[in-house]
Amino acid sequence: MNAEILMQQAWQAQKNAYAPYSGFKVGAALVTGSGLVYCGANVENSSLGLTVCAERIAVFKGVNAGENDFKAIAVAASSNDLIYPCGACLQVLAEFTSGLKIYLAEGKKHICCFSLNDFLPFRFSLNR
Ligand code: THU
Repeated sequence: MNAEILMQQAWQAQKNAYAPYSGFKVGAALVTGSGLVYCGANVENSSLGLTVCAERIAVFKGVNAGENDFKAIAVAASSNDLIYPCGACLQVLAEFTSGLKIYLAEGKKHICCFSLNDFLPFRFSLNR
């Protein structure tokens, strides 16, 4: 699935963000190897630390649907600037696919393409 189509789904997901405290709405669309897409949007809470980012909601939805083969995630935020995924979301994404492609919206028209390894070349791993 190409970046434009996945990003359209991230923009669609963004509409369901619950962000009354920051006003910063984020949507994410995560595609699996078989082409299924799991979407998420941030959900804030009056106890601010309980907020969950769009990316993690998309991952958790996918994993709870039985998926763990993720290929790419598109992230759309209510900003004209390039917004990068937070470190917590990168660590959660890294659990499943080290070379995940990350498509980030820069405003409505431009998409920047990265790999998860660009942002988190070293990450915690539980080696038992
Ligand atoms: N947020 C995300 O959804 N994804 C990120 O990668 C960073 C931040 C959300 C959390 C919060 O609801 C709002 O953006 C402002 O921090």
